[in-house]
Amino acid sequence: MRDVQRIAIVDPADATREPLRNMLLGVESVWLEAECSRYEFFLDVIRQSQPDVVVVALDADHTKALQLIAQLTQECPTIPILAVSGRGDGQSILQALRSGAKEFLTSPVVLEELLTALQRLRRTRTEAGGSGLHGVAKVDSMVIAVAGARGGVGATSVAVNLGCTLAQTPQYGVALIDLDLALGDADVALDLMPDYTLADVALNIERLDMTFLRRSLCKHSTGLSLLPHPVQMEDAALIREEHLQRVIGLLRASYTHLILDLSKGFNATDVTALRMADVILLVSQLELTSLRNTVRILLTFAADPTLADKVRVVLNRVGSDADIGLKKAEDTIGKPIFWQVPNDAHSMIESRNAGVPLLQHAPRSKIQQSIAGLAQALCGKDEAPAPAVRKSRFFSFK
Ligand SMILES: Nc1ncnc2c1ncn2[C@@H]1O[C@H](COP(=O)(O)OP(=O)(O)O)[C@@H](O)[C@H]1O
Ligand SMILES: [Mg+2]
Repeated sequence: MRDVQRIAIVDPADATREPLRNMLLGVESVWLEAECSRYEFFLDVIRQSQPDVVVVALDADHTKALQLIAQLTQECPTIPILAVSGRGDGQSILQALRSGAKEFLTSPVVLEELLTALQRLRRTRTEAGGSGLHGVAKVDSMVIAVAGARGGVGATSVAVNLGCTLAQTPQYGVALIDLDLALGDADVALDLMPDYTLADVALNIERLDMTFLRRSLCKHSTGLSLLPHPVQMEDAALIREEHLQRVIGLLRASYTHLILDLSKGFNATDVTALRMADVILLVSQLELTSLRNTVRILLTFAADPTLADKVRVVLNRVGSDADIGLKKAEDTIGKPIFWQVPNDAHSMIESRNAGVPLLQHAPRSKIQQSIAGLAQALCGKDEAPAPAVRKSRFFSFK
């Protein structure tokens, strides 16, 4: 899981402290370091625990709380303070910020707002070079949408195997949402029998919190967590754009990498996923239908610069006899090929039929090595982009 933020809270009122504590306990990227019910003891608690973030609830006694914030700011200037109050008027916010708080949230605290504030504080702290006792550099979250240029092009194969591969990096927490709502098969590819699906999440969206959401994900032995498509096909209709927006927003706060395996319908949920993604892998092949559709998709995306800039074309099954030439494909697409995944029917079909990802089924295969290269090109430390066209020693292109 991503680097944990160690948090200490102070709130003399049980009625507000407990819900806030429970909310924090549900966030995987948070470790509740200390909980205090007296303003006067809190400074000592902080001296001892040296958390990454401090949360001060103001409403039990505004004067004492603001004094505490001022003291904390002086004594521990590198620890950011998040003030919480039911009074969200300009005056209260200003007072808290002037005392030294970095963020202000109105209570009852909304989970998304809390996560966003914590993310901002994490960034502030990293940028300021404050490390605290256990301070670590932030690992940003990355949402990777995997779309395909036609059915069967290999989107799920790329999404699932990329997810399992990324999950091998100990600092990464990786989740995959199967957005092929009617006919998705990420669960089959991973041989998982999930208890919950995206439909359960959508039905409970009003009371969705991090604990519930995380329980709805099913963990594979590689470390990849899966949120599957609904079991009943008709339940696909339950999932609306706003549900997905909320789920992606929450999961990206808890996982370093979120992979979205899209349907081929380019429907409303797919478009939401494309918009929310940081990078879109458009999986295609060196054959006519895929290439023609790739051009059409890129043309559609071109109308929306937020989509066009994020697209990376991934050619799958490269090296099969019937391939159209790579150069010709690139000229047709008008965009460099970001990555090539070799054709390896033996490894891939066996892996898919066994429901075991390549990483476990054929760890030394060239196709798994290619997926690992893709993971590195997308998320590697050097961020070195993959060469537009990699000369392969193993395949000859026409
Ligand atoms: N690189 C590859 N080499 C050989 N077969 C592949 C490769 N990628 C995918 N396949 C096969 O193609 C089929 C369809 O792939 P899939 O990932 O389900 O496509 P999509 O999700 O785009 O519909 C799978 O049965 C898989 O075994
Ligand atoms: Mg698929």
